[in-house]
Amino acid sequence: MSVSTAETGRDVVLPEGAGHSLLVRDVVNETRDAKTVVFDVPDELAERFRYRPGQFLTLRMPGWQAAARCYSLSSAPDLDRHLAVTVKRVADGAVSNWMCDEVRAGDRILVLPPSGRFVPRSLEEDLLLVAGGSGITPMLSIIRSVLERGTGSVVLCYANRDEHSVIFAERLRELSERYPDRLSVSHLLESVEGLPTEARMRGLLGPFAGRDAAFLCGPEPFMDAAAAALRDLGVDRERIVVERFVSLTGDPFEGTRPRSAEDGGEQGARVTVDLDGQRHELDWPREAHLLDVLRSAGLDAPFSCREGACSACACRVTAGRVTMTRNEVLEEEDLAEGLVLGCQALPATDVVALTYDE
Ligand SMILES: Cc1cc2nc3c(=O)[nH]c(=O)nc-3n(C[C@H](O)[C@H](O)[C@H](O)COP(=O)(O)OP(=O)(O)OC[C@H]3O[C@@H](n4cnc5c(N)ncnc54)[C@H](O)[C@@H]3O)c2cc1C
Ligand code: FES
Repeated sequence: MSVSTAETGRDVVLPEGAGHSLLVRDVVNETRDAKTVVFDVPDELAERFRYRPGQFLTLRMPGWQAAARCYSLSSAPDLDRHLAVTVKRVADGAVSNWMCDEVRAGDRILVLPPSGRFVPRSLEEDLLLVAGGSGITPMLSIIRSVLERGTGSVVLCYANRDEHSVIFAERLRELSERYPDRLSVSHLLESVEGLPTEARMRGLLGPFAGRDAAFLCGPEPFMDAAAAALRDLGVDRERIVVERFVSLTGDPFEGTRPRSAEDGGEQGARVTVDLDGQRHELDWPREAHLLDVLRSAGLDAPFSCREGACSACACRVTAGRVTMTRNEVLEEEDLAEGLVLGCQALPATDVVALTYDE
């Protein structure tokens, strides 16, 4: 469904098609500043909302200043019946304060299906996890999955301002007691030893530099210090996986309806797309992003952030060329394999072929 908005003069695809309205089942206090919001996923959406440990949901705060934000799933797939995100209040932050203050059991929130690449390759690996503050959220899901579903082990280095701000302190203590040989947790408290410096991180992480992979999630300076320390310790870039907790600037629930040649737009390219086992052929207006073209045609192409930052929309070019408006996630080797972000892709040749199915 689309309407023209008076404010922007654009045709927008209304959000009903994009997200799913999920019922909030429970809201749990974690610390003074953090709450876990638990969602009910109805049976008919169970497949759409399947996820892997470390992935996130994108949700939308309603109202006149509607805003979308990503929140990592703190629940663990196959271990928890319901999906849960854990939100830490950010000073003057719009959505985190709304989630912590306003959201109640029984409310409904518009949510996009799980997405993200902050996911261990296998639950049999030995992992080093480095978390700061709310960065623990995806880590809890990974830790529980590795311990309870896999055979790997986890070393967690977890930094917080003080002992009152440690989210999941009790659950981590219980897990360490239950799996003493497979989980080791070191707490770093700024109130006790100051901000963790690169030198301090090097000393702390040194004994674990040989682990299969390192996952980093937390405030920017903390992650930069941890990543630099790991690189100094000789850990390859591809063994370091980083999740950046930034706020979305746009609204991924709102898609732009592209102007076709019939609407007075420029003659576009022709694109063949393989999606969910079916082949589709469409016109691709020159200034329209592939994702908008596909969704406007009623195709269920995947996406999450719509701003080149998550890769949920990645697909592979098999013929022709495309350019991207923005890319913050695909690396050189991804691009060399022909991967592009559907939400940012524009046609660069008259004929293009792509697949979402590999
Ligand atoms: C993949 C991913 C997973 C995430 N997972 C989690 C999670 O599990 N838990 C979690 O708590 N967070 C998570 N985040 C972060 C989350 O999405 C939000 O960024 C966070 O909650 C802050 O959003 P907000 O709306 O409260 O703050 P915003 O309104 O976005 O504000 C952020 C900061 O910017 C400042 N600010 C805002 N507007 C202005 C302005 N005009 N001028 C100057 N400063 C301004 C605010 O004061 C605040 O300090 C995740 C992010 C990503 C991308
Ligand atoms: S939807 Fe996130 S990068 Fe395209």
